[in-house]
Amino acid sequence: MEILGIDVGGTGIKGAIVDVTTGELKSEKHRIPTPKGAKPQDIADKVVELVKHFNWKGKVGCGFPAIISHGVALSSGNIHKSWRGLNVQELFSKCTGLEFKVRNDADTAGLAAVTFGVGKGKKGFILMITIGTGLGSGAFYNGVLIPNIELGSLPYKEYKWIEHYAADSARKRENLSYEEWGKRFNKFLKIVERSFSPDLIILAGGASKKLHKFEEYITVNVPVVSSQFENNAGIVGAALLAN
Ligand code: BGC
Repeated sequence: MEILGIDVGGTGIKGAIVDVTTGELKSEKHRIPTPKGAKPQDIADKVVELVKHFNWKGKVGCGFPAIISHGVALSSGNIHKSWRGLNVQELFSKCTGLEFKVRNDADTAGLAAVTFGVGKGKKGFILMITIGTGLGSGAFYNGVLIPNIELGSLPYKEYKWIEHYAADSARKRENLSYEEWGKRFNKFLKIVERSFSPDLIILAGGASKKLHKFEEYITVNVPVVSSQFENNAGIVGAALLAN
């Protein structure tokens, strides 16, 4: 069965048709830059554009960069604050005329990893960390999702939230080398390890492809691996969610 998976991010809105029985992409990935300001109607217009690009008429699953409870956004870390309280699922369904399921983007990325990827069949506590504009997190216990765990929103010094210190956007914004940034990311992982004692940490998002550039700075005892979906985990997991 094929489903359109969409991953709404801080810099790009990406989609592809996914075979949800294998996790494979059945189309080229299509990416549209996230409109400046990331306001609701502007993003919804791009979602419509993406659906039209694929000439899609079926079900759609969507990962979204906020806490999502029953379709409603409860936070707005790297998107416009007017998303808060808005039913994202209803908005996208109305604009496209299609059946949408929307969840937090790191929850969906994690879903791909525990269904088809390195987390498949693994028992215990698995954390997916997505490294991008924000720091997203998806938590799974014995393969079951515990939704909306927001590790990037842990407070950290003067940075307000630790994602402002250790996300990939901090590396770019502050022009950090991989060594400087890797040490920051390691601090984040140390806090996570100390607070949650996960059995496995899986990385996804743009920066996870560069793990070789910063893995020497990671000193936590828990195994840290890159999701082999690289940048597609969000899309694949989003499609799975709508299955
Ligand atoms: C948001 C999370 C999201 C993460 C990755 C953060 O700013 O608070 O909900 O998962 O970015 O997009």
